[in-house]
Amino acid sequence: MTPGEAERPPPPPPLRPLVRTWRLDDTRQTLVLASRGGRLPGVVHWGAPLPRGEDLAALAAASEMDVTGGMLDENPDLSICPEAARSFPGQPGLICRDGDGRPILPRFGCAAVEERPRGLTVRCRDEAEGVAYEARLDLDPATHVLALSARLTSDRPLRLEWLAAPVLPGPQLSDELIEVSGRWVGEFQLRRAAWHPGIRLRENRTGRTGHEHFPGLVVPGRGATATAGEAWAFHYGWSGGHRMVAEELPDGRRQIQWGHAAGSEAAPGTAFATATLFATYGAAGTNDCATAFQRHVRDRLVPKRPGPRPVHYNCWEAVYFDQSLPVLKDIATRAAALGAERFVLDDGWFGARDDDATSLGDWQVDARKWPGGLDPLIDHVHAEGMEFGLWFEPEMASPDSALLRARPDWALGPPDQVLGRGQMALDMARAEVRDHLFAAIDAILSAHAVSYVKWDHNRVLPVPDAAQAHGFYALLDRLRAAHPAVEIESCASGGGRVDFGVLSRAGRVWLSDSNDALERLRMQHDAALFLPAAVTGSHVGPRRCHTSGRTLSMPFRAWVAAQRHMGFEMDPRELTEEEAGTLAGVTAWWKRNRDWTMTADVLRLESADPAIVAEAQLARDGRRFVVFAGRAAASAQIAPRPLRLTRLDPAARYEVALANRAEAPALSRAPLALKEGPLVLTGAALMQTGIALPWSFPETMWVMEGRRL
Ligand code: GLA
Repeated sequence: MTPGEAERPPPPPPLRPLVRTWRLDDTRQTLVLASRGGRLPGVVHWGAPLPRGEDLAALAAASEMDVTGGMLDENPDLSICPEAARSFPGQPGLICRDGDGRPILPRFGCAAVEERPRGLTVRCRDEAEGVAYEARLDLDPATHVLALSARLTSDRPLRLEWLAAPVLPGPQLSDELIEVSGRWVGEFQLRRAAWHPGIRLRENRTGRTGHEHFPGLVVPGRGATATAGEAWAFHYGWSGGHRMVAEELPDGRRQIQWGHAAGSEAAPGTAFATATLFATYGAAGTNDCATAFQRHVRDRLVPKRPGPRPVHYNCWEAVYFDQSLPVLKDIATRAAALGAERFVLDDGWFGARDDDATSLGDWQVDARKWPGGLDPLIDHVHAEGMEFGLWFEPEMASPDSALLRARPDWALGPPDQVLGRGQMALDMARAEVRDHLFAAIDAILSAHAVSYVKWDHNRVLPVPDAAQAHGFYALLDRLRAAHPAVEIESCASGGGRVDFGVLSRAGRVWLSDSNDALERLRMQHDAALFLPAAVTGSHVGPRRCHTSGRTLSMPFRAWVAAQRHMGFEMDPRELTEEEAGTLAGVTAWWKRNRDWTMTADVLRLESADPAIVAEAQLARDGRRFVVFAGRAAASAQIAPRPLRLTRLDPAARYEVALANRAEAPALSRAPLALKEGPLVLTGAALMQTGIALPWSFPETMWVMEGRRL
């Protein structure tokens, strides 16, 4: 130090930008938002609960990253809408242009954050561009689900390419993403993809939710399993096709973005909104996320219905288009005797629909097949003690239909487009199209005692188009308002329109056109990451499955259907007396238990044996459970490995018993205690030691009931 220096005053500390913070809490998680220097805030913590007194400014400071060579002099914010104008080194949260095609790169100042109980609204504006951004974040303390959405408004019309729902950080201590893909009769396939530098993009450009890219994601923390470890999960509740970006920035930060498929807002506008992004965190394995979503869908989103979930009968795989009153009356009588409580007349009742090449759009009862109208069948169904449901595919029209002959201009997309299942989609953005469809469907629902509509959507759109999904929601909402007692099932060639947007309007989804119990066992297991049992339709199909050619036993088919919202779809005239007896027995079991199983948490079990696909359904009061242990294949080892249960009270004692011990094959030779009668064990033993089930054939199911003593 030179003499002169000692006299100089110390340099002032570098100016730290003012930091403002906000937090959302429930018993499972804390989310902290921080805004630096009056800029758009970003999430600096989303994970395990932080103590009440945590110094959030210090937390924000602790999350700030250093700067070294080869970087900008400051790290651009990873905000809830990362801004290209601030040199953000990754995908921006907003991409838009003005009418001349000039990119608009807003720099938002954070004008206001409104705090609600367990909710925040962030409002900010770029005055120079005349553009405002608003984000809503709400945490449901009972279900542990965050609901996030964003809105963009502009003083002049602009073209939106991309608007992300509020952007969440991806966890650092995580190596992979569990994504969901699929296909017709093969929905809900889980795939693991490694985090890596750059973007991982999933985009669904089919214009409907689609089989191929279910809009969901689970991000397990390192080492997480179904029953232990941290996990974060996401679902974009939109029926028009989505885009997901999971990106690792060059600086190591990770972001996860969700929004509509890029460019699906076709028209310039002054207001745009994302759908709701649902997100949840749990520290007790991916089951924490699964049960949060299951509860949220069931308790918050799905329209409430009085009474128990009725057992379905659907005639599609029994008769296809070949509908006739005497045959369907006979089938209805048999279905009711097996335990069905709702009879659904599927495709083929309208226009001249003898195959799938014609008549969509002509929603008048086919007088050739139904000379006396539908009422004779409906009356018969009612006399058998069942409700009546009817199939529609409202958003579609066949080129060979009175509707498209009269109004070819109502079709969506060019006239020379490639058709899907021989049909075209109608332009649902047009009010006159929606009015016409409302009048046609309303007329049928008003003239007949229909309490259920299976609402189908059997082709992809020519282009992704947000207006189409909005038009669908508007028509469905109007019909629901006019017919509030009618329950809706969402179907799209099976599970092509399964999402929380439609589930805010529908009580059930048709998970798949596959009634193959073996395929369903896996599909249902994986779909339970997002869907509760009560909304997941599952039917006992024909003995020889129509989509796989597999022949499966009645006990296996019946128990797999009994895992979810149960129904039948085979021709009951094919059943042997023994099959009918088994099916009636399992259906009676399902009805005896549905008051608690249909509100239970579906818990995916970690099976030591990959041949076993197992889950527990645990009653909300924790007093009973049922384990479904499906054997998808023969095991590598000769005897079954013990299966460990989860979420029981370690100190409590439980009585466990096989519900179907009569199904033990002769090759199960040991006098196992479980085959003789109930066993009593503590929750600790059931969870830590596990329980060895009897030897079984492939394509069979053990059903084990448990009761807390
Ligand atoms: C779709 C559905 C089926 C059935 C047919 C009728 O494929 O997923 O369940 O309703 O349409 O055409």
